[in-house]
Amino acid sequence: MIRVLVLSGPNLNMLGTREPDVYGAIGLSEIEAGLSAKAAEHGAQIGFLQSNHEGHLIDALQETVGHYDAVVFNPGAFTHYSYALRDAVSSIDVPVIEIHLSNIAARESFRATSVIAPACVGQISGFGAESYSLGLEAAIRLVTTR
Ligand code: DQA
Repeated sequence: MIRVLVLSGPNLNMLGTREPDVYGAIGLSEIEAGLSAKAAEHGAQIGFLQSNHEGHLIDALQETVGHYDAVVFNPGAFTHYSYALRDAVSSIDVPVIEIHLSNIAARESFRATSVIAPACVGQISGFGAESYSLGLEAAIRLVTTR
């Protein structure tokens, strides 16, 4: 059975009420419920973790080793400057797919750079809540075809 961890970084617990014009009106728990249903369709096991703390996200990435086959990761604003998270992604042999609800290439210039993406398998950005769902599909396909 494929095991996928969906990891969400800072402020993503505020989805639904946070800048809905940018991030949509769907809350994180609703997104996660949709992902659980999709994982069940694929016979995959899914775990969720959201944290506003960099160290907690690093711990979670390290702890995926031996427990998960892939990670779908929205690092939030850490995307743009956390070398520590990038190193954590590089440190594990579990493939990580970076996702963003908004199109980070089409916003403020500081968001155009992801320091984490080079350590990831790939990046999905700009499809709203669907980015999570596409990330899960990519993770399942990646692990299945590997
Ligand atoms: C985000 C994009 C980041 O720039 C921002 O800091 C977030 C959310 C997204 O999903 O679009 O917190 O990762």
